[in-house]
Amino acid sequence: EKGGYDWFMRKEIYEQPRAVADTLLGRYDENSRLVLDEIRISENELRSIDKIVIIACGTAFYAGMVAKYAIEHWTRIPCEVELASEFRYRDPIVGPTTLVVAISQSGETADTLMAIRHAQEQKARVLAVCNTNGSTIPREADAVIYTHAGPEIGVASTKGFLTQLVACYLLGLYLAQVRGTKFGDEIAATMAELQAMPAAITEVLEAIEPVLDLAGEFADAPSVLFLGRHVGYPVALEGALKLKELAYIHAEGFAAGELKHGPIALLEEALPVFAVVPPKGRDQLHAKVLSNLQEVRARGARTIVLAEHDDTDVVPYADVLIRLPRVSTLLQPLVATVPLQVFACELATRKGHDVDQPRNLAKSVTVE
Ligand code: M6R
Repeated sequence: EKGGYDWFMRKEIYEQPRAVADTLLGRYDENSRLVLDEIRISENELRSIDKIVIIACGTAFYAGMVAKYAIEHWTRIPCEVELASEFRYRDPIVGPTTLVVAISQSGETADTLMAIRHAQEQKARVLAVCNTNGSTIPREADAVIYTHAGPEIGVASTKGFLTQLVACYLLGLYLAQVRGTKFGDEIAATMAELQAMPAAITEVLEAIEPVLDLAGEFADAPSVLFLGRHVGYPVALEGALKLKELAYIHAEGFAAGELKHGPIALLEEALPVFAVVPPKGRDQLHAKVLSNLQEVRARGARTIVLAEHDDTDVVPYADVLIRLPRVSTLLQPLVATVPLQVFACELATRKGHDVDQPRNLAKSVTVE
């Protein structure tokens, strides 16, 4: 059942190229049109939406953070992301022209379920991004995009997360197609990039050896920090969450630009700091992250840098370099998250923890 792996989690990490391919399957037709039949919300209704609110918990929330960047960029529809457990307690402004997107691997998370019920009371349309067929959240939602990752057994979400990202990218492109905010050829280019993702993730997994060694090196670290900007920020949060859940190590993810506003005080000799470096683009993100890294190094912390394979600018800032395939900025979480999953799994294994069943955690949290 574990397919020769020591943990379900490791099996599920290695299943990710297949899982991502399955999320994409059948969703782009021979006429270069995205087809999300199961959406069941008419194109007219989708054109009248003036706000998107994404609600989710834990790892699914981080998928939502990435989705916000992509959806706003592609559709120009204002998009908020909110923790499901906070949503209904603050009297949120939602109505008939709001699309609420609930992301949940299990489809049974009570916080998320209560949040969508609240949204429906306010007449919002609810779309679920879910992995579990027939579970409560997609049953109660108006529409669903299934991620088709297959059962996820490990308590720590891995393929669930990557496939949620893909489903959200598909949703963003679909809305752009319906509303005409992106030309067909632009959508086609992004779809081609998505179709190439299973191979890119495989590439990351085939070169994972140095990450396994890293887990040995940092097994006794009392604390680990993760930095990222833009969509690298939720990746940093996800890397930290995996480490907390599995290795029971204090870990925090930061938006790298926030470092100087406080967390920089935490930096000290030998503290491991992971950083996700965005691809070099027209904006200044890449240079900004390098300057953040310089600050980190100047204080004696150890930097573990995830960057594109041919990015030579990062070399002086990296104690350890983890190479990633070349992908566009918005899709980078699909490759950048994988080494962080493997790192947490390996570190927890070395510490002798039960990776599939971490202490105090349940696979789906069915109480508020
Ligand atoms: O089933 P869901 O996606 O609704 O679950 C949400 C969170 O409980 C879940 O992602 C949790 O944070 C995981 N243990 C993360 O690895």
